[in-house]
Amino acid sequence: MSIAVQPAHQRFGYGTALLKWVIDFFRKSGASQLEVGTGTFGYQLAFYQKHGFRVSSIDHNFFVKNYAEPIFEGGIQLFDMLRLTLRYPGNVT
Ligand SMILES: CC(C)(COP(=O)(O)OP(=O)(O)OC[C@H]1O[C@@H](n2cnc3c(N)ncnc32)[C@H](O)[C@@H]1OP(=O)(O)O)[C@@H](O)C(=O)NCCC(=O)NCCS
Repeated sequence: MSIAVQPAHQRFGYGTALLKWVIDFFRKSGASQLEVGTGTFGYQLAFYQKHGFRVSSIDHNFFVKNYAEPIFEGGIQLFDMLRLTLRYPGNVT
């Protein structure tokens, strides 16, 4: 699922609160890891890595293959998706 906060309310900690809730929910559910996908550049990479996610793989041309229109962020076209993984050391499958 996508995570988003309305632009006027960004940078007030709501995104962090949402992400922490998801991380805690799946830790309590006994998941061994959580995976997210995001673009190869932009502040979102720092957002996830602050919470322990590490880059695990790259999905080349993901945003070209899966979206009807090209996506640009800061004037740069987004082509590839990075997959980031958060491992729960205490939960082993
Ligand atoms: C990603 C998103 C959900 C974060 O929500 P938020 O409520 O703004 O996040 P927070 O206020 O909790 O910020 C957490 C950290 O993210 C980073 N961050 C968030 N917005 C940023 C921005 N515009 N520029 C730089 N860093 C930013 C910062 O590291 C920030 O921590 P800091 O404020 O202590 O420096 C929100 O920016 C958003 O909806 N973006 C558009 C949709 C999107 O890109 N979703 C993710 C798809 S993978």
